[in-house]
Amino acid sequence: MLDIVLHPNKILRQVSAPITLEDLSNPEFKTLISEMTETMIEKDGVGLAAPQIGKNIRLIIVKNQEQVLIMINPKIIKKSWAKKIEDEGCLSVLGSDGLPYYLPVARHQKISVNYTNISGEKKNIKATNFLARAIQHEIDHLDGVLFIDKALKNETKN
Ligand code: CO
Repeated sequence: MLDIVLHPNKILRQVSAPITLEDLSNPEFKTLISEMTETMIEKDGVGLAAPQIGKNIRLIIVKNQEQVLIMINPKIIKKSWAKKIEDEGCLSVLGSDGLPYYLPVARHQKISVNYTNISGEKKNIKATNFLARAIQHEIDHLDGVLFIDKALKNETKN
């Protein structure tokens, strides 16, 4: 299992670099993806971005029901005006008890995302609700943004 980079750490605050087709053909890349997948499942996460395992490259993985969606150079090309507020947490942001904590974050309800898959093919996915939220959270990691930056801290919850 890979170690998760924890907040505060500069790695989590950098803008990650795009991945080239050459990077994709490197066998180490496939190893990295399987290790990330294993780590996400082990930690019971719903998504993981490469900066969270110490690599500032534009790669995210997201759980989509029983499957794991691997998205390379993901880019949101369309988003709904409507947003939805739900609690979010992050494997890189732990409370004093050493566990992730949850805060409400407003996210676009529907998004359309272009990305490259592991075979180097250009893909598009239209996501709503939970999946849309997870993808937005993970793409934020690629731009050095954490959910705590966007959390609606003033809304007190019991
Ligand atoms: Co996160």
